[in-house]
Amino acid sequence: MTILVTGGCGFIGSNFVKYMLETYPEDIIVNFDKLTYAGNLENLQDIEKNPKYHFVKGDICNRLEVEDCIKKFNTDVIVNFAAESHVDRSILGPAVFIETNIAGTGILLQVAKEIGIKKFVQISTDEVYGSLGNDGKFTETTPLHPNSPYSASKTSADLLALAYEHTFGLPVVITRCSNNYGPYQFPEKLLPLMIANAFDNKPLPVYGDGMNIRDWLYVKDHCIAIDVALREGKVGEVYNIGGNNEWANINIIKLLLKIINKPESLIKYVKDRPGHDRRYAIDASKIEKELGWKPSVTFEIGLEKTIKWYLENENWWRRIISGEYQQYYQKLYGNR
Ligand code: NAD
Ligand code: DAU
Repeated sequence: MTILVTGGCGFIGSNFVKYMLETYPEDIIVNFDKLTYAGNLENLQDIEKNPKYHFVKGDICNRLEVEDCIKKFNTDVIVNFAAESHVDRSILGPAVFIETNIAGTGILLQVAKEIGIKKFVQISTDEVYGSLGNDGKFTETTPLHPNSPYSASKTSADLLALAYEHTFGLPVVITRCSNNYGPYQFPEKLLPLMIANAFDNKPLPVYGDGMNIRDWLYVKDHCIAIDVALREGKVGEVYNIGGNNEWANINIIKLLLKIINKPESLIKYVKDRPGHDRRYAIDASKIEKELGWKPSVTFEIGLEKTIKWYLENENWWRRIISGEYQQYYQKLYGNR
């Protein structure tokens, strides 16, 4: 089978590409990525010479590039990770989120329909459901209520994907996962940002009261769930994916500081993210019961592995934070 992975140079995409090459040596993986600020070829250095792996630099918003690539490699299935993925950036500048996440997904769906792709997995997010109160969890039937430009753009993409299934019979499956953590996550996101700052004894900017809750899943478990959805997922269905692992931000940060032996005095409460969703929690019983997936990495082990990876790969994140990231950091945190 030939699998087109879009956004394979990002955090989850690069973990997925490696997982698939390791698990299915007979399959061909084509990684189609624009190499935005978040895409990094270094993430795939160890497999770039694998004869079953191909990289194509391309933009999902460019119909010709998409079509050429799908045809050239006789693509069977598509897994669409390509997106602008950071909520804070969507608040600073929503336009590229609308372009990539909505228009880009629309182009992929249209070309997939014309060419007759056998399965199209849209990688979505639990953020499409909005924010929870103290109780309950998101199920696949929770009403969609996205609150940020990022989540609104991902919700739009989901609706387009479902419309292509309903109207044209395109074999679409949607996965909606909670917060991922693990190796190769760009250091704008909570955990790697806090690790990098703590390492340099810089303040750790905690938004609001630090009591917002996220449900954390180790990235490899997400990759396994996507693979299951790709192979076994029923067309037209949505599958929630989560780790049943809720943490208030401040508690996760304190745990991290304890593990790396840094003082809590580094914590700095800063102005809240506008529209900040209070709590996410995923009910993943559908994928567990119907497709037999469940998380395999405990938070204790996953966090330890993640911290170890960032400490052993200091050059990787230092190269990132020494570039354009500096201006982004100043813009986002400068007057908080
Ligand atoms: P990321 O920002 O690390 O990577 C995104 C990748 O997409 C990059 O390699 C980038 O170059 C590429 N890309 C961006 N625009 C593109 C375009 N126009 N054409 C081709 N490639 C383009 O993102 P991530 O955290 O790995 O997230 C991947 C997907 O998973 C996203 O769709 C995101 O919404 C979803 N998701 C992420 C999480 C999470 O916790 N990170 C959780 C649930 C769902
Ligand atoms: O839930 C899935 C989503 O998780 C994905 O769809 C997104 O692509 C991914 O970025 C992530 O979104 P979040 O907004 O939850 O992740 P982030 O790492 O940006 O923030 C996690 C929490 O930490 C959130 O409550 C905001 C808070 N935070 C974040 C940063 C960057 C801080 O308190 N300080 C910070 O500096």
